Amino acid sequence: MRQPTVHPFTLFVTCASLLIACSQANTTQTPTSSPTTSPSTAVSPTVSPTNTPAGTSTAIPIGIGVAQTSNVALLGQEQVAGAKIAEKYFNDKGGIDGTPIKLVFQDTGGDEQGAINAFQTLINQDKVVGIVGPTLSQQAFSADPIADRAKVPVLAPSNTAKGIPQIGDYIARVSAPVAVVAPNAVEAALKQNPQIKKVAVFFAQNDAFSKSETGTFQETVKNKGLELATVQKFLTTDTDFQSQATNAINAQPDLIIISGLAADGGNLIKQLRELGYKGIIIGGNGLNTSNVLSVCKALCDGVLIAQAYSPEHESEINKVFREAYRSQFKKEPPQFSAQAFTGVQVFVEALKAVNAKSKVSGQPLADLRTNLNSQLLIGKYDTPLGEISFTPEGEINQKAFYVAQIKMDADGLNGKFVFLK
Ligand code: ALA
Repeated sequence: MRQPTVHPFTLFVTCASLLIACSQANTTQTPTSSPTTSPSTAVSPTVSPTNTPAGTSTAIPIGIGVAQTSNVALLGQEQVAGAKIAEKYFNDKGGIDGTPIKLVFQDTGGDEQGAINAFQTLINQDKVVGIVGPTLSQQAFSADPIADRAKVPVLAPSNTAKGIPQIGDYIARVSAPVAVVAPNAVEAALKQNPQIKKVAVFFAQNDAFSKSETGTFQETVKNKGLELATVQKFLTTDTDFQSQATNAINAQPDLIIISGLAADGGNLIKQLRELGYKGIIIGGNGLNTSNVLSVCKALCDGVLIAQAYSPEHESEINKVFREAYRSQFKKEPPQFSAQAFTGVQVFVEALKAVNAKSKVSGQPLADLRTNLNSQLLIGKYDTPLGEISFTPEGEINQKAFYVAQIKMDADGLNGKFVFLK
């Protein structure tokens, strides 16, 4: 099922140093028209049942519509990893009362049209019961209304902009919004340097999440009595930040906060340091991946990033998830993987609850999708993120948040996220 015909390091290099053509470079790897799992082995329970290899039951298809190509794959590849760990874990535990689940992957790429195409294929061709995706809020605002109109439940694994659950009745998220996550990073910066007074803020003006997150950061800066010295805008496709970085440095900030995505954000950090900025840098949720380390290398050192997941969270399910991730990737699991795992988990546990009331295998697909949506919103889930539930609108209720600081090795090539106490 795994399909990394391109080594992850190749992806780093392609995306980090050749910001253009990343999508092209990877399209041969995961064509959008061909899902990772063939629909013929992952069928709707009432459409055309096919026996699984075990030969006893029909697999229940759950769609995964995230970015497997483009620069956004720097986040999306972590989501694929988390979802696959969940598929194996829950199927090893018997799936839905003996019936396995089958993840059907459709690559969204990094833009709105790619997400729309992937969602339409998952809904109409792959006939999934629900979708975990897309990667970006920017994509969700275009693709989610399609799922909502088709009455297909969507669990957003990483869409943290304001307004996601409000897209429709069938849209919920396992990714806590910027309003509750982002302020934690500012608190941590003030703890490290209580003398901070002037703040420079950067945001990607072509990205819905970045615009939402900068709103939260700017509000937090004002609420803390700090001076918002300058606000600088860029694009997620930018590679040269000399003019904005110079403007910011001229304002002599003690703290710089960046809301963008991994490749652009990593390059911005690098150029700020190269131009001599020495104060604290906060990166937002779009930079919350170790894939950023290959972009800013040694100059990533010290960056603070708020977290909605801690690998050290103590629970049985997190222990299993953490061990599975570590044994495969030889590092701690990142937030994007934990959230994707959680999205699959919520579907699995809600499907079990639906099955207990009325056999999933006997329900027409449209009924199953609607019943699944109602059920998932009322459940409580013990996940790697901790215990979660949803508001009736589909917003996540989550208790614990964290802040990590990037610590680079002396050679500047490898590094890790160190969780602050
Ligand atoms: N958290 C980012 C978004 O919502 C990835 O787009």
